Amino acid sequence: MQKEPVIIAVCGKGGVGKTCISALIVKMLSRDPSKKVLAIDADPAVGLSFPLGVTVKKTVDDIRNDLITRLKNGEPSTREELINSLDYELFSALEERENLAFLAIGRPEGDGCYCRVNALLKDIIKEIAGNFDYVVIDGEAGVEQISRRVMEMVTHLLLVSDASLKGRKVVETIKEVAQKKCSVKQSGLIFNKMRDQEEIDALHSKTRLFTCGAILENETIRTFDREGRSFFELPGNDTIHQLNTAIKTFLI
Ligand SMILES: Nc1ncnc2c1ncn2[C@@H]1O[C@H](COP(=O)(O)OP(=O)(O)OP(=O)(O)O)[C@@H](O)[C@H]1O
Ligand SMILES: [Mg+2]
Repeated sequence: MQKEPVIIAVCGKGGVGKTCISALIVKMLSRDPSKKVLAIDADPAVGLSFPLGVTVKKTVDDIRNDLITRLKNGEPSTREELINSLDYELFSALEERENLAFLAIGRPEGDGCYCRVNALLKDIIKEIAGNFDYVVIDGEAGVEQISRRVMEMVTHLLLVSDASLKGRKVVETIKEVAQKKCSVKQSGLIFNKMRDQEEIDALHSKTRLFTCGAILENETIRTFDREGRSFFELPGNDTIHQLNTAIKTFLI
């Protein structure tokens, strides 16, 4: 029987810390061995693999492009063959490690209208997601992606902003678009890369969004990210604790 997974999309302006926060959430959620976690890298730049310490062999876009080439050559010829082929390719593109799996989207929906293939891919990703307790999607910067297909299944929208007005405006717009396009049950904002408590307090009064927490600028995160090290080796510290508390508030 298919479960109802909690599908979290991490969204916000470029460079606010979406990938770092996605990786830390994946680490936190996968700590419970009884829970299965799927991490989806939905940023065409494919960056989430580094902090998760996984290697991407094939993206959904690679699969899509291979299939389009094959379709142009007349195969697979029946709908059933097409579905079986996509099913097989997508399941084999999942990088798995214990209770954690990873899938990279690559370029979400490229040139030309291959609506049939795109729609099937979406359905299969949804089906794959149904095998997990949690799905964490590291989003592309900005508001564009929220209207794309993979986002339709999101249940929890985690908005990330830095201290800038631009960062706060972007998350407000994302929330508005998501309300129209997705079936989001819960949304919340995390302020990231905060300088001190004074800055956090000042920012709380500047947003109408539900704020579930704030994370200070942290040297260890910066260093691990700079060196491309897995966040699974990151020692626990106050910042991680702040994030874990925020995520618990968000998931209630
Ligand atoms: N809490 C933090 N403390 C210190 N540095 C941080 C923190 N969060 C993120 N960073 C740093 O900020 C930079 C951007 O982080 P990250 O790549 O996660 O952002 P992003 O929103 O995913 O960016 P993009 O929009 O390019 O995908 C990185 O150098 C990262 O190390
Ligand atoms: Mg990123």
